[in-house]
Amino acid sequence: MERLTSISPDGIAYPLPREEDYVKEFKRIEKLVAGAKKKGQEIVVVMGVGFVGAVMAAIVADTTNAKGEASKFVIGMQRPSTRSYWKIPVLNQGVSPVKAEDPEVDPMIRRRVLEKKTLVATFVYDVLRLADAVIVDVQLDYAKNELGNVRNGQVDMVALEESFDVIGRRVKPDCLILIETTVAPGTTEQVALPAIRKIFRQRSIATEPLLAHSYERVMPGRDYVASIRDFWRVCSGVNEEAKKRVVKFLNEVINTRKFPLTVLDRPIESETAKVVENSYRATILAFLDEWSLFAERNGVDIVKVIKAIKMRPTHSNIIFPGPGIGGYCLPKDGGLGVWANRHILGFEDDTFRITPLAIDINDTRALHAAQLVRDALRNMNVPIASAEVLLLGASYREDVGDTRYSGSEILIRRLTEMGAEIGVHDPYVDRWWEFENQEDYPSQSKAVFFRNQKKLKDLKVLKDLDEAMKNIDALVLAVRHEQYLHLDPEKIVKSAGHPIAVIDCFGILDDLAIKRYFELGCEVKGLGRGHIQRIKDQVRRARG
Ligand SMILES: NC(=O)c1ccc[n+]([C@@H]2O[C@H](COP(=O)([O-])OP(=O)(O)OC[C@H]3O[C@@H](n4cnc5c(N)ncnc54)[C@H](O)[C@@H]3O)[C@@H](O)[C@H]2O)c1
Repeated sequence: MERLTSISPDGIAYPLPREEDYVKEFKRIEKLVAGAKKKGQEIVVVMGVGFVGAVMAAIVADTTNAKGEASKFVIGMQRPSTRSYWKIPVLNQGVSPVKAEDPEVDPMIRRRVLEKKTLVATFVYDVLRLADAVIVDVQLDYAKNELGNVRNGQVDMVALEESFDVIGRRVKPDCLILIETTVAPGTTEQVALPAIRKIFRQRSIATEPLLAHSYERVMPGRDYVASIRDFWRVCSGVNEEAKKRVVKFLNEVINTRKFPLTVLDRPIESETAKVVENSYRATILAFLDEWSLFAERNGVDIVKVIKAIKMRPTHSNIIFPGPGIGGYCLPKDGGLGVWANRHILGFEDDTFRITPLAIDINDTRALHAAQLVRDALRNMNVPIASAEVLLLGASYREDVGDTRYSGSEILIRRLTEMGAEIGVHDPYVDRWWEFENQEDYPSQSKAVFFRNQKKLKDLKVLKDLDEAMKNIDALVLAVRHEQYLHLDPEKIVKSAGHPIAVIDCFGILDDLAIKRYFELGCEVKGLGRGHIQRIKDQVRRARG
């Protein structure tokens, strides 16, 4: 039988482990652990080395004691799926499996893996038997069955419940089990605790599992590491011992002297804090959607309006939403609360009105951006069908390579539905998983919400910006990547070979640039930027 492989973003195929590899691999790790124990190091298993787990694992592996010696040996444990296995060999080469703008990530992982040797990655669940502490950083997905209707979705608990089972069957009774995954409130106490307790009883362990919850507030981007290590944490445990252990652990690995811990009474409070934090952010972003539309239609530049409002310190966190609110957290976390209310906590009535509405608005905002592209092209007498449209930015936010739930995906799907030919450029994204695998995981793909999506399977992310601009009809500024903030209108029009439509989805263009595009014969539109018409009129009048 042909061996399955897992392909890394740079195209290297790693064969998945075979049955016989497991025993050998466990022995390899066991030996490393014995060495670490001799040095008095605590053994920490991080389950799931994705965007969060990989960096968290490196931070824990970076921990030192009062004498400055490494005090933790970390095993990043990753299931060997075709989608994710490559992260193990890549990490073991000292290379970060996540691409980030933060200059601290790469050297930290290299140092820990290759020099200090306090970080190793593996695929065998049995390493959990060796752990003094386990950190759960696996994903928890929220499936949406309709575009723009979060209520009609559900939490996919299977993977997480499997993780609890895998952990319960292997860990030592006094192992700290720290859940960092963003979960539906109630999960730690009402799902994980009874499941692991039951397995403990089967294993004749009389003590209670030491389960704790502390959520990640990680912000991928320039301050990736600092957003985990030098940041305030909230935590709780299912009992006093679990609470004591999680507080001790976090005090050792996180900079809690400068960023004090908040310890809450119960895990459901820590879980709720996370979901409220992200629902709050999703809500203030969604709130600006209607004002952005108002601005667009009434000659108002929302970017200047927001700047003016932000001068008032009480309103400094008001932000412009762009073409959609993506990332792994904001589109789903409110849904975890809505779902938990019914399916974990048993309430039939509808507690939530604002949270689901905000998510629905955010999930469909890119559809309006697509209309602007269509209208800008129409104003230049270019029909959207068969127009060449180049999107700048595939990821969900500036200066990161994460494409999960990015507004650009919906924008591309809608433009493709209308017949446009799409090119996409992103300095941080090499392969766009959501398109490449749209047929392999149809239930998870947004392709089902649109027609005419087949060819997007072959969508390639372009790397040469000048080359990408050749012969385009429209340019969409979709993400505020550093590289896109000061593009030169002359150069762009020269590369395209003729005047084009420019659509600014993120308040990137200043008035001078907008004016220059008009002078060059281009058409410009922008989300929330109603003043553009005024600039257009001025240029026209100046021409006479
Ligand atoms: N990405 C962010 O910006 C961010 C921010 C704050 C919180 N979080 C939360 O952190 C958690 C992890 O998110 P992420 O972005 O790192 O996800 P991710 O998908 O990048 O990583 C999860 C990893 O876990 C692995 N995995 C899944 N099941 C496993 C199992 N049973 N055993 C071992 N490995 C397993 C997956 O293969 C994957 O590599 C989520 O709950 C998320 O909501 C993420």
